[in-house]
Amino acid sequence: MKMPKDLEAAFNSQLTMELEAANSYLQISAWFATQNLNGMASWMRQQATEERTHAVMFLDFILDRGGEATIGQVPAPTASFGSPLDAFESALVQEKAVTEAIHQLYRAAEQADDISSIPFLQGFITEQIEEEATVSAIADRLRLAEGQSGALFLLDNELGGRSGG
Ligand code: FEO
Repeated sequence: MKMPKDLEAAFNSQLTMELEAANSYLQISAWFATQNLNGMASWMRQQATEERTHAVMFLDFILDRGGEATIGQVPAPTASFGSPLDAFESALVQEKAVTEAIHQLYRAAEQADDISSIPFLQGFITEQIEEEATVSAIADRLRLAEGQSGALFLLDNELGGRSGG
């Protein structure tokens, strides 16, 4: 069953927001590379790939529902940061905004009685819990490592070992 047009527009906004997140992570990755923190750069690059996968999942879902997938305008991401902690905190702010947007989308699907959207969105609700927790834990560890370059390089090395997407 086709979803209502206003719900389709909200799904398209989420598609655009996931691409915005992908660009933002890619930009943070570039900043880490300029700081020679290549493990963190690699972690951010993988996160960018994951966000692009989310965007494609939204795009495919809209198409599968017989809708029109339309990518909106994606603003330029922040390109420079005061510290590694600042960069991860900025990622956390973004993840919280994505979580809120997905919750709004879920409420909109419920209001439209669009039952077919619910399981798809529930997957993203669960995913956001994990994403926020992961970024928040890294920010906490960076806070603990403040001023200790040995701890920073250890964390960089660990994050560079991230596998998968
Ligand atoms: Fe796709 Fe990190 O939100």
